[in-house]
Amino acid sequence: MSDPTEISESDVQAVVDSALAAVSAATDSASLKKVRAEHLAEASPLARLNASLRDVPNDQKAAAGKLVGQARARVNQAFEAKEQEITVAENARRLAEEAVDVTAVPTRWQAGARHPLSLLQERVTDVFVGMGWEVAEGPELESEWFNFDALNFDEDHPARAMQDTFFVEPTNSHLVLRTHTSPVQLRALLGNDLPLYRIAPGRVYRTDELDATHTPVFHQIEGIAVDKGLTMAHLRGTLDHFVQAMFGDGAKVRLRPNYFPFTEPSAELDLWHPTFKEGPRWIEWGGCGMVNPNVLRSAGIDPDEYTGFAFGVGVERALMFRNDVQDMRDMVEGDVRFSQQFGMVV
Ligand code: DAH
Repeated sequence: MSDPTEISESDVQAVVDSALAAVSAATDSASLKKVRAEHLAEASPLARLNASLRDVPNDQKAAAGKLVGQARARVNQAFEAKEQEITVAENARRLAEEAVDVTAVPTRWQAGARHPLSLLQERVTDVFVGMGWEVAEGPELESEWFNFDALNFDEDHPARAMQDTFFVEPTNSHLVLRTHTSPVQLRALLGNDLPLYRIAPGRVYRTDELDATHTPVFHQIEGIAVDKGLTMAHLRGTLDHFVQAMFGDGAKVRLRPNYFPFTEPSAELDLWHPTFKEGPRWIEWGGCGMVNPNVLRSAGIDPDEYTGFAFGVGVERALMFRNDVQDMRDMVEGDVRFSQQFGMVV
């Protein structure tokens, strides 16, 4: 503009042309927003033209006002038309994109997987059911009497402290989270006619921190057999059959003398694992023994007439050495990818 107080038609036309060109080049609401900022908003050439009207000499004001007014109207109109066009187009596109085809065949949800601990537990029980044993279950919230006293743990026997126990409040309820599945031995003895052959898998608790080799909640499988004339030889034969079914023909057990209050004699149960990843070897797996006469007596059974054997093994431990799981935390974290590795069979 040569003279700031004059508004020439060609100046106005130039501003209008450039604004209209920008409007017609806009393709979406983002570019349109830019056009508004550059060509319509405050400080745009058009707005400045409008502002400069106040400096126009009075005799030219009407004409200049008309000129600028028409220019603004044209640009606004073009802008609004474009805005309308873009809104319609964008809405149509959004509707098309968000359309749900209710007739589409759904993609399948990824299936979950059974936990290997459950599968392993079932395998073990299957082996025993195959020998004619029955499956039993006991409560996880167990009375101290079943968990310790009836199993011949003295009031202040150090063996009680051997199993770090979760006591349940109030303490005079004498309830604990069972520290082993052995209380099921007694529950089975109390309620049933003899002879008795029971396998009892289940969850047990100890006050351990969770790390690669410990977990405060784990699983054991308890077995108890009470009949006339049972001896350690029956225990051994049963265990040998059991481990061969689980670990292959080359598997066998070794019993090492140990102490458990509820069995006499008692033994540590070692397993010869023929297909262990780093070569065949002995692995400590659990405990076993002949049911202590005191335990039979506390269930009202005459130990001169009946004898029994019992054993208990850890399921997590079996999963570790049988399926080469290195870290117990994988078993409790619940990531389905861990379970899926085992398929449906362990
Ligand atoms: N209850 C024992 C434990 O948790 C394991 C055990 C040992 C079970 C000897 C038995 C047995 O049945 O006879 O450490």
